[in-house]
This record gives sequence, structure tokens and C-alpha cells, in this order.
Amino acid sequence: MLVIRWTVAICVFVLQAYAAVQDPASLREYDNFTNRSLLWAPYRANCYFGVRPRYVNAEPFLMGLMWMNTKTVEAIGKIRHFVDTQDDMTKYGWEMYDPRIGGKQVILDTVNNLNLTIYFVKSHDGVNWGFRVRGEALDKSSPLDSASIIYYMKQNGDSKENYLTSEQVTSDNKLRLTGYSGELGEYEVLISTVKGNSYKKAKVLSSEADPSRIAHLSMVVPDDRVWNANEIFQSLLVDSIQQYMAESDEDVELLQIPSAMTIRNIHNFAPSKFHFVQKTFDISESPFEIDFLYNKKGSQNPISSVDELIKPVLDTIRSKFDSRFEIKDARVRQFAIETLSNLIGGLSYFHGKQLVDRKTVFDEELFSSIELNHPEEEGPHDLFTFVPSRASYPRGFYWDEGFHLLQVMEYDFDLALEVLRSWLGLVEDDSGWIARELILGEEARSKVPKEFQTQNPHIANPPTLALAFSEMLNEVLGSGLLHFDLTDENLGSFSGNSGETLKKDHELLAAYSERLYEKLLAQFNWFRSTQRGMTEEYLDLADVDEDSIHVEDAYHWVGRTFTHCLPSGLDDYPRAQPPDMAELHVDALSWVGIMSRSMKQIAAILGRHQDAERFHKIEQNVIDNLNNLHWSEEHQSYCDLSIDDDLDTRKFVCHEGYVTLMPFALKLIATEDERRIRRMVEVLSDPDRLLSDFGIRSLSKMDEYYETGEVYWRGPIWVNINYLCIDALRYYFGEESDAEKYDHKLVKQAKQLYHQLRNNLLNNIIDVWEKDGYCYEQYNQNDGKGQRVQHFTGWTALAVNLAGKFPEYI
Ligand SMILES: *[C@@H]1O[C@H](CO)[C@@H](O)[C@H](O)[C@H]1NC(C)=O
Ligand SMILES: *[C@@H]1O[C@H](CO)[C@@H](O)[C@H](O)[C@H]1NC(C)=O
Ligand SMILES: *[C@@H]1O[C@H](CO)[C@@H](O)[C@H](O)[C@H]1NC(C)=O
Repeated sequence: MLVIRWTVAICVFVLQAYAAVQDPASLREYDNFTNRSLLWAPYRANCYFGVRPRYVNAEPFLMGLMWMNTKTVEAIGKIRHFVDTQDDMTKYGWEMYDPRIGGKQVILDTVNNLNLTIYFVKSHDGVNWGFRVRGEALDKSSPLDSASIIYYMKQNGDSKENYLTSEQVTSDNKLRLTGYSGELGEYEVLISTVKGNSYKKAKVLSSEADPSRIAHLSMVVPDDRVWNANEIFQSLLVDSIQQYMAESDEDVELLQIPSAMTIRNIHNFAPSKFHFVQKTFDISESPFEIDFLYNKKGSQNPISSVDELIKPVLDTIRSKFDSRFEIKDARVRQFAIETLSNLIGGLSYFHGKQLVDRKTVFDEELFSSIELNHPEEEGPHDLFTFVPSRASYPRGFYWDEGFHLLQVMEYDFDLALEVLRSWLGLVEDDSGWIARELILGEEARSKVPKEFQTQNPHIANPPTLALAFSEMLNEVLGSGLLHFDLTDENLGSFSGNSGETLKKDHELLAAYSERLYEKLLAQFNWFRSTQRGMTEEYLDLADVDEDSIHVEDAYHWVGRTFTHCLPSGLDDYPRAQPPDMAELHVDALSWVGIMSRSMKQIAAILGRHQDAERFHKIEQNVIDNLNNLHWSEEHQSYCDLSIDDDLDTRKFVCHEGYVTLMPFALKLIATEDERRIRRMVEVLSDPDRLLSDFGIRSLSKMDEYYETGEVYWRGPIWVNINYLCIDALRYYFGEESDAEKYDHKLVKQAKQLYHQLRNNLLNNIIDVWEKDGYCYEQYNQNDGKGQRVQHFTGWTALAVNLAGKFPEYI
């Protein structure tokens, strides 16, 4: 979060020498380490727990966990698998999590009377992993006393060589499987009960369906249907129950239900590479523990017991967290570590095809509605990304992602860059376009309403990745570590999983950045050419000084409708009415400012002086246009624009709120421009406009559209933009600023605002979390309550930085 000025950035030119002599061997070594460290994790974040490897696409091993309480006939409908708010969990989520190390997830499933704790562990070298499920009754006296744990797993891939087979079930408590894949090599999976009572109270319907034993069924399931495991399991149970009923005249008795809910192979499926394993416990008296271990054959650090790794894993995460965030208050610290863990717990790996409509173009006729009716499958592509919410939005969102990275970079810098790199990998080489939502494969698509599945290469979204990248480079370059030792002996010894290699090794960072440059540039060019507005029309207007305008740099969001501007990210935020082809959007322009700044920084790091100068110039043009084109003296605000044909002047479309704050929030107002900075501070501090007791409202209370329509971005408090405003206040008025040159009263007011805003926003998020157990998509502007999507630990998790990186006072 350290902020540097352009003057400091110039020092960056020093780095070019290092970029030039970069030894690719160390970068390869870094990649090799990263690949192993991040190979295995619960990357199927849409599942309560589901593991798959990263970058293993042809022949991955996939697994998922399901469970139910088998005591009632309704159990079939209450099998847990995908995270779903309808499951009515009292709580679920990671208390601690790090994909390089392991973690602990807690799930309180009141409907199924189950308190589950899942401990995920990995070997040091990242090659082997395992997890323990510990479960107990939430209410020991409840009749719901039979907890069934179900694993499914598959070795995917068409090759004849790969396999996953189980040994004969010889024990009630253990099952061993062995597998092979060309990409993963030979491996062994061991499932074993460590503790707990097998369920022995049932009247057994058939010998294969004895719930006191491990039940196992293997069959053929196509690779792209593995994610339907829940439906497959359900239909197998239904078939089995129907057969019982056909064989007997009597109804299934209560005591037989746990047996009826145990899977058996009535269809005589031949074993194949897909497996179900079910184990049922009696939870009326004591907890159970069951372990799942995956070990690569012949590896140096096989895991023999989950147990002995749990403590070291949790200790390591805790100390990594503490080394990054200094939070004294125990309550705030608990909130912060859980919230960060849940953001990182959304880390997912997707591989699959996306739907793109390249036929539909946008013109005025489309202002009424946008329909993308010509979808075609493209890909497959892959993506390594965080998700805004595991339940409601388990996929990649371009504009959310930059905010995720702003948070994650403070915990694991290397991981944030790795995710950034994956996203940029999807920028098309020829066009420079990247989809606004990345919905790869059927599993991801299953959670998206049909009308939102298709992407279109004319539609943009705020380029927050550029913002995040710019902040990452600031952090490294602003830390003053411009001197480094080429003979650094540590180079290449990526000890541990601390995730700060690139932050500390600038030579490596330069080499790494080199690979991102072309993609960033392609995207920058795409944005500027496709979203460019009709500037020429403004030049002839009576109130525009032609010479003060840079015609190349004025923008609008393509694809808005009368009511919505989805590309801007601020869906229902009021814009010009009626929509006009010639309108210009102040937030679109501000985002180009950020992209230019980010391009400037990376070009500087890479020693591309001329490019850096060019981007610097574009950034300055953006700033000029913000002031000369979009600033309204009358409203004392940055505003959207359209043309007033009658008066032959600009028509300022001013709806005070997140859009008009954007030049300030993105630090695009020159520090010398005290007048405009003062105005921003005034508006932000005004309780009748933007300041509420819980943060900055998305739209001013005085605006005619305030709290109208859907009230999505027309009043409620959003953490991402609040965060940017707080960061901007710190930039303009904090320790490292030149605030002393401003009017004393302004500085005092701004510092007070910073303090109030940071504390109100943070305290409210923590209070709600304490009360409900969750973070939310947005907070109510009148009472502070969490609303819309529950357990939204995407950008709302930026509260962790507020708690651990932003001082209370500046
Ligand atoms: C790391 O994984 C990527 C993606 O599969 C691959 O392209 C790259 O070659 C790997 N790097 C090393 C050094 O193993
Ligand atoms: C990656 O590192 C491992 C362990 O040091 C080594 O065995 C392997 O050969 C390396 N692979 C590549 C592609 O460099
Ligand atoms: C759930 O189980 C854990 C581990 O045994 C325990 O610490 C926790 O208090 C239990 N939670 C509830 C709500 O029963």
C-alpha cells in the first residue's frame, strides 16, 4: 500500500540492468517451486470440500466430499456437496487456510445435526496431501444420530494407462485405492477411520448395505460429469430403495433407513475409474474422525498420519499471518484471520470451455436490452482465481479480482502475482479482449442463469488487475529496497512457503513481469480502442476549449441499457437519461488512467524508457481530460457527459457518489490540486450526501435516484470503493504525503474523516460478522446490516487490510 510518486518510479530505471542480465534458470526454478507448492489444494471452492490439482488438465485426479444424516427418508434431499445458501448452514468456512500449507474449515450443519471440522494438510514439498473430517452431533439427544460421510473420486483421462482401482474392502475401517496418471504418476489413496463408533443400530436390509461397514461402489462416470456426483449418488440410492420395496411387501421401517441410505451396486456395474466410498458413524455418544490420504508413490515425504501435521500446519499459517498483519485486539485478529482465510479459501482452478457471442454488436437500438443470442463454445481455457462468494458466485469476475489481489498481495505476494498471471493469460493475443466473467466448463456454468452465461468481446469491465499490479509494484519499489545484490546466495532457495520471493528478489520480479508485459499492453490497447468515446463532437461546443482536450482519451462503457451499465461494474448506478451514443463516462476514463499508470510502472521496471514515457503522457492526458472535460464548475464535481443539442454545450450528468469520486479514489487528482481535493473531502464528509455511520454511500442521499429501483448501487455501502477512498485519503494526507502544504483546516478535516471512515466501516463489518457469522456483499446505508449475498468474502475481505495495514490515525 506504500505509495510512490513518479519521481521515485524513475529510480526504477535502475532495475533495467537487472532485467537484462536475468538468468532464466532462477525463474525456471521459481516456477518449478511454485508449481509444486500450488499443485494440490481444495481448488473446487464451489464444493464444501473438493480437491483437484492445478495445471493438470488432461488426466487430473478429482475428489469431493459429501455427507448426510441417514436417519430419515428425507436424507436424500439433504446430501451436502456444493456450497449452497439454501442448506441453511449455521456457519461454514475456513478458520485458517493457505493453499501452500493447509487449513481448517468448520461447518455447522444444523439441519443434519452435524458439527464438522475439516483439517487439510500437505507435505512440505507440496506433493502429498490429506485431510481429516472430524464430526460430532450438534445435539447429542437428537434422533438424527447417523452421520454418513461420502467421498467420490475419479482418475480422469482417456489414456489406457491411467487407472484408479480399489483393493477388496477387507476392513470396516479402511480402504486403499491405487491410481496412475501420466501427469501425476503413481499414487495411493488411503481412507481410514481413526476414531468413532460405526453405526450398528440399524436393521440391515441386505449384506452389501450394512452401515456399520465401509460401503464402496465403482462405476463409469464420464470425465465431464464427475461434478454431478450428488445426483448420481441420489439416483443410485433411489434405485436401491425401489428394489427393496419391490422385493418386500412391507414399507422400510425406521430402523432400516440407515441401511436403505447406504449405497450398493444393484446394477452390477463393473469397476472403473470413478468411486464412491461411504462410511456411517453413530454420533449419539462420541465424535468420529476419518482420514483421507493421497501419497505419490516413491515420494520423499509421504504423509503417514494427518494427525501429526495438523498442529504444525495451523501454527505455520498463524505465524505467517502474524508476520504480515499486526493486530493486537484478539477479536479483530480472529475476524481478520478467518476472513482472509475465506477469501483465500475461494481460490479455484477452472479448466473448460466458455460461451462467447462474437456476432452481436452494439448500437443505439440495443439500449433497451442486451441479448447475446449467438453463443459458441470456445476453449478450453484454464484459470486460477479467487471467487467473490463460494455459494453464489463461484467463478472468475474480472472486476472483483483486482480487489481480491489487493488483499492477498499483503499475505502472499507471490500467490497474488500467480493469479494475476493466470488471468492475463486469458487476454487474447490478437484482440486484447478478456471476458468480464470467466465461466469455464459445465460445472462453473451450472451456477449461472442462462442470460448471463455468454460473453461478448465488445464489453469491458473496470480493469482492476492493472490497479492491483500497480499497487504491487508500488509496494516493492516504494519499500526503498532498490539496492540488491546480484550474487544473492538466497536466490533460488525458496525456503518455505512464505510467498515473498518476488517481493524480495527484484531481479526475479523483473523477469516475471517481462512475461506479463505483452498481455497487459494488448489489453490496454483493446480497452482504449473499443471503449473510446466520440470526443470530436465535443470540440466544437461553445463551452469547450479545444486546445485543452486530448481527443484520444475519452471513454464510455459499451453495452449500457436504459437502466443498467453492467460493464461499469456499478450496474444500476444512474447515468445519462436517455442513453446517448455520445456520452462519456468519468469512471471509464479514470480506469484508463490507472491502466496507463500501471503500464508506465512495468515499462520502467523493464527498462523500456520510451514506452514508459508514452504511458506517462497518456496518464497525464487522462488527468487533463478529467479536469478540462469532466469537471463541472457548477456542480463542483467530476461528472459523466453528454451533449446538450439545444444549447450546443456539454451536458453534465452529475450523480454524486462512487462514479464522481473515482478520480479521487484512484489517486488521479494531482497532489497540487488542493481545490479539487478539498471538494472531494467535503463531499465525502457530508452526512447529508455520502457519509453514513457505516461507510460511504454508493449514491448521495441528495440524489434524485437515491434508494430507488433495485437499490443496488444507489445507496448501499460497498467495501471495495470505500477501501479505495480510505486509501486515497491516506495517499493525499498520510505520513508520506505532502499534506503540510495544504490549508491546515483541510488537513484536519481529512484526517478526521479518514479515522472515522476506517473505523466505522471496519467496526460495522466486524459487528455483523460476530452476530451473523458472515461477511456480506454490501451493507445497509441506514442500519449497517449485511445484505444481498451472504458469506461474500471477495472484496469485502479488504477489511483485513483495514484492520492490519491501515493505521487508526494518519
Ligand atoms: C509449471 O507449470 C506450467 C503450467 O503447466 C508449465 O507450463 C511450466 O512448464 C511448469 N514449470 C516448471 C518449471 O515446471
Ligand atoms: C523441479 O524440482 C524438483 C525438485 O527439486 C526436481 O526433481 C525436478 O527435476 C524439477 N523440475 C524441473 C522441470 O525443473
Ligand atoms: C464443534 O466441534 C468442535 C471440535 O470438537 C468444538 O470445538 C466446537 O465447540 C463444536 N461447536 C459446536 C457449535 O458445537
